[in-house]
Amino acid sequence: MATDIIYLNGEFMPLEEARIPVLDRGFIFGDGVYEVVPVYSRHPFRLPEHLRRLQHSLDGIRLAKPLTDAEWTVLTHDIVARNPGDDQSIYFQVTRGVARRAHEFPQGAKPTVFMMSSPLVTPAREQVENGVACITATDFRWLKCDLKSVSLLGNCLLKQTAVDAGAAEVVMFRDGYLTEASASNVFAVRNGILLAPPKNHLILPGITYDVVLELAGANKLPLEVREISEHEVRTAHEIWITSSTKEVLAVTTLDGRAVGDGKPGAVFRRIHALYQDFKQTVMRRAA
Ligand code: PDD
Repeated sequence: MATDIIYLNGEFMPLEEARIPVLDRGFIFGDGVYEVVPVYSRHPFRLPEHLRRLQHSLDGIRLAKPLTDAEWTVLTHDIVARNPGDDQSIYFQVTRGVARRAHEFPQGAKPTVFMMSSPLVTPAREQVENGVACITATDFRWLKCDLKSVSLLGNCLLKQTAVDAGAAEVVMFRDGYLTEASASNVFAVRNGILLAPPKNHLILPGITYDVVLELAGANKLPLEVREISEHEVRTAHEIWITSSTKEVLAVTTLDGRAVGDGKPGAVFRRIHALYQDFKQTVMRRAA
């Protein structure tokens, strides 16, 4: 296997050589934020949008931006060039740096900046054609889910309940309304209308979510962005999950019950095809 080359605090090095002090606040408190950027044919997809969301997360935890967007962009292309594989997933992480353990923010600590590449594994054809199983759970996470924080214990606990049940994801409800899944956004289709929960503090503002809404708008698919009740989700004709790595996937069973007729629906097939076309067009333009 080729050695992964990572970026850590100004230097590129093999992954095995990268070291973080144990007092890094990312390790001690989960005090940091991250991004995951998909790369197709060596072209980062929607990088400016990911950088904008990174800025929102940094602002949300009151951490000064350690690099300019131009610097992040150069580093992203550099990491992509140094790693094998045309399709990669680039992970960015910024923590509040190294300091003696105390909850309040340290004075003068330097943020830790880390980037790595992994192979981008998009869903297998079988998953696209047959859809995936999901279970449901109460969303017990905090009230700043719009920040892409590395404090992901809630998400990890929730995701594991899905894995334990042989499901791909866990669709969550808070106070009777749909929020999102442990590592994806969730859409529903009822009577031909695409329903999306609003972007607020209860969900991550997904980059893929935005692409789906843009494609729906541009192709005149009936669309409503509003709170979606648990009942509406449980009786939806289609349910989808979206993320940078899953793209758009149909959920064909929810808690063991078929969604619609138990197959990916017509609206899903349309948006999936539009998404693939859009990706190709963007990548061709970038080439
Ligand atoms: N997760 N909601 C949550 C909680 C997520 O963790 C993610 C993505 C999304 C979808 O966002 P986007 O479309 O920008 O990928 C929604 C990434 C992939 C991860 O943590 O690995």
